[in-house]
Amino acid sequence: MKGIFITFEGPEGSGKTSVIKAVEQALKQRGVDVLVTREPGGVAISEQIRHILLDVDKKEMDARTEALLFAASRRQHVIEVINPALEAGKIVVCDRFVDSSLAYQGHGRSLGIDEVYRINRFAIDDTIPDLTLFIDVPPKIGLNRVFANGRHVDRLDLESMAFHEKVYEGYRFLLARFPERIRAIDGTAPLERVVECALALIDTRLDKE
Ligand code: TYD
Repeated sequence: MKGIFITFEGPEGSGKTSVIKAVEQALKQRGVDVLVTREPGGVAISEQIRHILLDVDKKEMDARTEALLFAASRRQHVIEVINPALEAGKIVVCDRFVDSSLAYQGHGRSLGIDEVYRINRFAIDDTIPDLTLFIDVPPKIGLNRVFANGRHVDRLDLESMAFHEKVYEGYRFLLARFPERIRAIDGTAPLERVVECALALIDTRLDKE
């Protein structure tokens, strides 16, 4: 595929969405053909799955069901949006992707990172990010931001602090395992600084092409 696939990851309240908006603007200003999308969702089928996944009333959801639904939602998103954009040579920026499943379901839910990776390989085939930016914010700080900002709270936000600590630990494992692909950015720095770092890492990746 001709395009470049960049994903953003981070715990709750890491500020990913604001960073992505600023990065999108900066790239567009330079005339880069960029497509921004998000998980879980982005297309009709995936948005419906997202609705089930994040519904605070679905307390009975089993961990494997959760992992399979995230993978199913991802599959549809890859087929309808991500692959066609990459084939058209675009820079695709996605808010969360497979590493969220590895950190949240694989490690957070204790299903195993390798096990969850296997079901996700079935879903994504070879659509693996070229670069993943991890916005590093300790879970306590992130969750405080979520509740202070009054943003809509979903089923996963309501999990215990122990769960969020485990998700964070999962991300640290992934950083150690894929050091070439996943790069951490200090998400406690001011937004402009985080955006600057993200753009610098993206430029380094674009220069390789
Ligand atoms: P989202 O609205 O994207 O929130 P955020 O602003 O935190 O990114 O909510 C997605 C939630 O779903 C978030 O709690 C992370 C979780 N998630 C998983 O557990 N596994 C996954 O594979 C994905 C994509 C998200």
